[in-house]
Amino acid sequence: MSRFSNELIDRLLKARIITSLTGAGVSAESGVPTFRDPGGIWEKFRPEQLANFEAFMSDPDFVWSWYQHRRQIMREVKPNPGHRALAEMEGIFDEFNLITQNIDNLHKRAGSKNVTELHGNIERNYCIKCRKEYNEVDIHEKSVLKCECGGLIRPDVVWFGEMLPLEALRFAENCAMRSNVFFTIGTSAEVYPAAMLPMIARQSGAYVVEINTRPTSISYDVNEVLQGKSGEILDELVDVLKQKKAII
Ligand code: OAD
Repeated sequence: MSRFSNELIDRLLKARIITSLTGAGVSAESGVPTFRDPGGIWEKFRPEQLANFEAFMSDPDFVWSWYQHRRQIMREVKPNPGHRALAEMEGIFDEFNLITQNIDNLHKRAGSKNVTELHGNIERNYCIKCRKEYNEVDIHEKSVLKCECGGLIRPDVVWFGEMLPLEALRFAENCAMRSNVFFTIGTSAEVYPAAMLPMIARQSGAYVVEINTRPTSISYDVNEVLQGKSGEILDELVDVLKQKKAII
């Protein structure tokens, strides 16, 4: 028996616009640690030690070397079946928008083209003074780099207390408002404004589906919960959709 409701499959077959919001859980099966699960990143470090501008300014080498370390982990891992299924969905639906909170670049490496990165991308860096981009840095360089203008070079990721890239956020909100089906996948939905998106979608009439190994604070507010690993569920969903689409 399929784990997907008939309603979900029907809605997906009729949908014109589908949006997926992803979080760290989507990359867990690739071996990238999440933030808030047991053993997650925020259990080992305080976010205020690492992921904010003041921390960077008071000890740039420490923050830089931590991001270099994470960059190395993220380059060593590979996209998993969940990333690949989401990339395939672009080909299955007329409009499939992928909004991610992840900075690990794995969606793009899996072949997704239409990716909106709400929290930046660890592969990019920029100068805090002149904003020149530095995207080809030596992974082994443990001390913070300086721009030719003298400014410090920081990773292009959103830190606590910082605004999300406005254009990306606007686009994500717009997708949530227009979608027929909205997936929230592998995110604890604790961090705003990203956590608002499933609710915007629901209020705008979308059928909202959560895919997560555990219940979250929004599980009661969505239309359908699929509990389990996103790699397994998404892979299965793409198979079902391909079969159904072939019949229609
Ligand atoms: P969290 O660590 O808060 O949540 C990860 C979610 O993934 C949890 O709800 C897990 O139950 C779920 N999960 C774990 N493994 C899974 C799997 N194999 N399949 C499906 N679900 C799984 O991570 P995010 O929600 O992404 O922000 O965190 C949001 C933001 O908080 C991050 O982007 C980061 C962090 O602070 C910034 O750095 C700005």
